[in-house]
Amino acid sequence: MKAIILAAGKGKRMKSDLQKVMHPILGKPIVQYVAEAAKEAGFKDITVVVGGEGGEEIKKGLSTCEGLHFAVQQTPLGTGDAVKAGAGQIAPDDDVIVLCGDMPLVTADFIREMMDYKKNNPCEAVVAAVFRGEAMGDFGRVFDRRDEFIEIVEARDITDEHPATNWGNTGIYLFKGASLLSGLEKMKNSNSQNEYYLTDVPKILREEGKTVRVFHTRADMSVFTGINTQSHLAEAVGYMRERINEGHMANGVRMIDPRSAFISSTVKIARGVTIYPGVILEGNCEIAEGATIGMGCHLIDAKVGKSTSVGPFAYLRPGSVIGEKCRVGNFVEVKNATLADGVKMAHLAYIGDADVGKNVNYSCGAITANYDGKNKHRTKIGDNAFIGSNVNLVAPVEIGENALVAAGSTITDDIPPFALGIARERQCIKENRIKK
Ligand code: UD1
Ligand code: CA
Repeated sequence: MKAIILAAGKGKRMKSDLQKVMHPILGKPIVQYVAEAAKEAGFKDITVVVGGEGGEEIKKGLSTCEGLHFAVQQTPLGTGDAVKAGAGQIAPDDDVIVLCGDMPLVTADFIREMMDYKKNNPCEAVVAAVFRGEAMGDFGRVFDRRDEFIEIVEARDITDEHPATNWGNTGIYLFKGASLLSGLEKMKNSNSQNEYYLTDVPKILREEGKTVRVFHTRADMSVFTGINTQSHLAEAVGYMRERINEGHMANGVRMIDPRSAFISSTVKIARGVTIYPGVILEGNCEIAEGATIGMGCHLIDAKVGKSTSVGPFAYLRPGSVIGEKCRVGNFVEVKNATLADGVKMAHLAYIGDADVGKNVNYSCGAITANYDGKNKHRTKIGDNAFIGSNVNLVAPVEIGENALVAAGSTITDDIPPFALGIARERQCIKENRIKK
């Protein structure tokens, strides 16, 4: 069982400097979703065909995705030519699936169904067709007679001679290795784009008298959303968001407005968490039971402990680890900082590169001055310390447990436990000054 994922096309229609298949959907590149679906369906030998130009960008972008091989199609001469570029490892007795790298919503379930179909209906090749009704768009048209494949005609090559059809070519195929290899040798590029169309291979096989079948899938057509334009990309983000959020809700996560919560597939959320509108959770966030993520929060690689409340409008950047029963309120930014249980940081504060002890109160307007223009320095705050309003903690600095820092202080020296630290001008009164 081998998989070939086509990802060498230029993606001209995206009008973007980024490789088409590297555009992110909820924090992950388009093509990575395809590779993960193939893996989940049991494929261990997966070749991604990348372009001569931009191929390195794709390889690099997929470096965290284990077990992929790469093949290079120097010039994008069509989908058929791309498969040829990736066919180096294919043996005649292999079963091969071909997937489009621009189809991120394809599921492992669909791939398994297609393989079952081929098992139950022995043949040399299977073409998967999806019912598109009025929405044929630029999908290739699939023609068959009772599941016996006739041909695929590209949208731009369709003429009045062709009968109407509602079935679009998903661009996903299963082949017996030997038939694929022989078909690829016989392709020609005599079409309106002078490209080698992979869609010609099943036709060549059929003309040789081999059995080629059409698998008419019942899967929702959103599964086969191919991304050719920015508008398709936005559509795919919408479907992916829905799929991910439905999964969380099924696990007992309460979402006030799932349409406006953008949660990456890598995020873990426990049951009993509430997510308000306009939340973005990216990377390896972990949200523990009973936590609340308020409106408009943006979290990246952050951990939130049990029963903690975050937001509205908080920004938790990578390395934020928030304990249990904490409160990280409105307009608070946290970066690379650990907050132990019970910390209150209720509003308008910044804490970066810091370790904060239990039950610390970090008041409105307090900040860590963690960067001296060259290096980052750490701040340590002991358990039960009280940081007053509008305090500047100039790092590196340590505030002892149970210490109190007076409002408006700029702290440059360590404060021992149980001490009061105060660093500000004394107030003076000029009597009747205003009357003069
Ligand atoms: C293709 C199919 C069409 C099908 C549609 C489904 C052909 C000729 N047409 O059209 O029938 O309905 O997919 O989305 O196959 N690619 C390469 N090298 C190339 C050209 C393309 O690797 O030289 C890759 C692209 O990166 C992309 C995939 O193949 O991931 C599909 O190519 P694309 O140009 O998007 O084909 P469609 O016009 O969508
Ligand atoms: Ca496409």
